[in-house]
Amino acid sequence: MAKMWAGRTDGITDPIADEFNSSIRIDQRMYKEDITGSLAHAKMLKKQSIIPSGAADHIIGALAGILEDIQKGDLVIDPEAEDIHMFVEQVLTERIGDEGKMLHTARSRNDQVANDTRMYLRSASEDMQKKVGAIVEVLCETAEANKDVIMPGYTHMQRAQPVVFGQHMLAYAMMFLRDIERLQDLTKRMNRSVIGACALAGTTYDIDREYEAELLGFDQIAMNSMDAVSDRDFCLELLSALSILMMHVSRMAEELILWSSWEFRFIELSDAYTTGSSIMPQKKNPDMAELLRGKTGRVYGDLMSLLTVMKGIPLAYNKDMQEDKEPVFDALDTAGMCLDVLAPMLASMKVNAPEMYKAAQKGFINATDLADYLVKKGMPFRAAYKICGQITAACIASGEVLETLPLEAYRTYSELFEEDLYQAIDLKTAVNSRISAGGTGIKSVEAQIVWVKQQLEELL
Ligand code: ARG
Repeated sequence: MAKMWAGRTDGITDPIADEFNSSIRIDQRMYKEDITGSLAHAKMLKKQSIIPSGAADHIIGALAGILEDIQKGDLVIDPEAEDIHMFVEQVLTERIGDEGKMLHTARSRNDQVANDTRMYLRSASEDMQKKVGAIVEVLCETAEANKDVIMPGYTHMQRAQPVVFGQHMLAYAMMFLRDIERLQDLTKRMNRSVIGACALAGTTYDIDREYEAELLGFDQIAMNSMDAVSDRDFCLELLSALSILMMHVSRMAEELILWSSWEFRFIELSDAYTTGSSIMPQKKNPDMAELLRGKTGRVYGDLMSLLTVMKGIPLAYNKDMQEDKEPVFDALDTAGMCLDVLAPMLASMKVNAPEMYKAAQKGFINATDLADYLVKKGMPFRAAYKICGQITAACIASGEVLETLPLEAYRTYSELFEEDLYQAIDLKTAVNSRISAGGTGIKSVEAQIVWVKQQLEELL
């Protein structure tokens, strides 16, 4: 069958070319946006008397019917169609005849596809924000339940200073909150209407772009027609935000994997999110967490793929840009599913507080507190630091820990040491004296939980 765009050519193409050219497999998920966009376009054409009012009404009625039929499953999207835009227009013309052919006045698929994609992605961004919000909520609950559970905090993967598990969870909550902010921020720039840019240069018809934009819920219109149909930066911004979000997911997954190892035993994942080995009977593998980490690579790939597609394209529309939707949709599906798995996985994990405490005791992580003790008694920090380093080295050599080293031994290093040093280096004291804003002290952790919940309320 000849194409709807037959004219200059006879519209007869090689089936292999049709298959190659077709994007319906990918863009059919935008059917609702495409029809909503067309409804607004018909209303605008009617209001501006660009097409006869009666024809516009028939188009509007038929489009509403098409939407309903697709939603009900009465109209199946034809996989042979070139794309969703052609499919809808084709069905429209089949249903109401020549009047259907008036819809594409003062419009091109170039502005149409960009507008549809913007509409689809802005609501996908909202869904994603809610999913991230669900993670933040679980993190708050976990933080609340573990606000006094002491664990070693690490730098360079070496035990550094004692923290509470709640503090560690809240660190991720802060990151995910910023992911929501990033999504909101880019959605603002995405929410500009490009319809009316037409093929690339605007149109000779007296269209009302503002009106059409308003009908479709856009905040404003894109001010340059060539920019409007040429750029896909809004897709790239979303892909960047999703990549950063997945980087956070992946770091968290990495920690869950480490913590659930027999070496750490800080947490135990629920059986529901682990698998067994087909050969080793003792195994409980954190497959889901590993996939969260693995799928991050896939989302990064989606970003790189579109950046690469876009880098050499001259203005304005080029068919290369049809390759925009597959990576964006894939990244959305992948990140969305990851968040759906992560939330219940976190909520159901068991925290092994005694193991965390044991690990915190063995690593000299209160050495800073020992130094601070001397500083509070008047010694300059650098001098205190050096003495405590020497004490630590001696303890390691003799198999002792700071808590068990006798006072006489301490006093050979400095006369400032007294009986109260043991209180100062107690892990609970060490944690709870970190009272600075944002620190790991229990008051600070409680304040952070309140703050995160407030932020979430304001953002979503
Ligand atoms: N399926 C196309 C896309 O996704 C629609 C735009 C086609 N425009 C054109 N002039 N061939 O980019």
